[in-house]
Amino acid sequence: MSYDVVIIGTGPAGYVCAIKCAQLGLKTAVVEKEKTFGGTCLNIGCIPSKALLYASEMFAEAEHALPTLGVAVGKPKLDLKAMMAHKDATVDANVKGVEFLFKKNKIDAFRGTGRVVSAGKVTVTGEDGKETEVEAKSIVIATGSDVAGIPGVEVNFDEKVIVSSTGALSLAKVPATMVVVGGGVIGLELGSVWARLGAKVTVVEFLDTILGGMDGEVARQFQRMLAKQGLEFRLGAKVTGVEKTKKGASVTFEPVKGGNAETIEADVVLVATGRRAYSGKLGLKEAGVALDERGRVAVDKHYQTNVPGIYAIGDVIAGPMLAHKGEDEGVALAEMLAGQAGHVNYDVIPSVVYTSPEVASVGKTEEELKKAGIDYKVGKFPFTANGRARAMLHTDGFVKILADKATDRMLGVHIVGFGAGEMIHEAAVLMEFGGSSEDLARTCHAHPTMSEAVKEAALATFSKPIHI
Ligand code: NAI
Repeated sequence: MSYDVVIIGTGPAGYVCAIKCAQLGLKTAVVEKEKTFGGTCLNIGCIPSKALLYASEMFAEAEHALPTLGVAVGKPKLDLKAMMAHKDATVDANVKGVEFLFKKNKIDAFRGTGRVVSAGKVTVTGEDGKETEVEAKSIVIATGSDVAGIPGVEVNFDEKVIVSSTGALSLAKVPATMVVVGGGVIGLELGSVWARLGAKVTVVEFLDTILGGMDGEVARQFQRMLAKQGLEFRLGAKVTGVEKTKKGASVTFEPVKGGNAETIEADVVLVATGRRAYSGKLGLKEAGVALDERGRVAVDKHYQTNVPGIYAIGDVIAGPMLAHKGEDEGVALAEMLAGQAGHVNYDVIPSVVYTSPEVASVGKTEEELKKAGIDYKVGKFPFTANGRARAMLHTDGFVKILADKATDRMLGVHIVGFGAGEMIHEAAVLMEFGGSSEDLARTCHAHPTMSEAVKEAALATFSKPIHI
């Protein structure tokens, strides 16, 4: 069978690329080794975690917020089975949605493990061991990423007691105690879920901060909010061992600065210390496709590898491991393969941590601007001074805007607060168009909305806020 494009992997990068290719008139096929389409994001990542984050947030709100709002429901009772059923139904609807879109766009799907033989040729090995050869003018590797584990530490994931994000999405009961190794996005999101449902959660993090790479002020304030919710933090602590015990599992860690090792036990240990590119077992070495120093597929600005006709996008190449970054690369590559101009602006890729409150950012952090020697000004506005936030009992957090001191061009926006993940996009659009904080501040914002805090922070950047 011969195609214009064959895409290995149907996560957000791969399936979006396939749909765009088909829309642009290219004869397109995909290869998927799992039973359902959608990759990590739809099956065991973004989508199921958001279902549990939302449900557990409602559970916590029922106890802590509803009485103040005059809604007396009594002490909420957890029905974990129903919560998991909601999560599974959400996943099911989303993966079926991708299947529908493939059919709608006349994209052929090959079920099995894809291997690149050479430029123009991919073999697919089905579950029964049968091999099918697929020919295509262009091959796109969109195989994503996998759990990295802890470098130098043997971790035996059983996905029940010692779990990765996959197991943490399907625990059969709420653990009394949970240790999370890694204070990054996965650790804080899934740690929050189980803390809200009743677990005592301790996060052990190597760095002196949670969410390394985020704006420092944002990370510090956010950590205080999580601590108020009952999460405990052990920062500057390097985990050196994770072992199964009679009761659960133990985590051994030592201060990064030196000192005595300590061991704590918990019913469940979640290891969330990053992900690595899924570039092995694809025949890339044999096909002569070069990888970079971190095992990612090396590509040029057109997502082409060193072998003409073989491309790669998404988590398997360099850059932030974010579904939307992969999706945008999928669209850009499809456009290029169809002879159009495709482009991704890597300076304006929002990132969101879906905790409560959410943390969202786009553009540069204060630390990055300092390092680059860029003169900047800062404007901030807290949600405690926002009427809508007060009305909804969502006053935790603030908006922080960083703009160029000389030109007022907006360089970075950071929001901690309810709905931050939605609000961040007005900043992203503005920055995509090279806008200034004055542009944002002079744009009429509906009242009363949380977004008015974004406008006020912009006012604070170029002039003075009104409501504080
Ligand atoms: P991460 O890179 O965000 O965080 C891992 C953390 O583990 C780091 O802070 C690191 O310092 C720490 N760590 C590493 N080794 C350690 C050790 N021996 N002892 C103690 N701490 C140690 O990785 P995470 O949370 O596993 O997420 C993986 C990827 O998935 C990330 O790239 C993330 O962006 C993406 N993701 C994005 C989400 C979102 O956008 N909302 C949600 C979930 C994942």
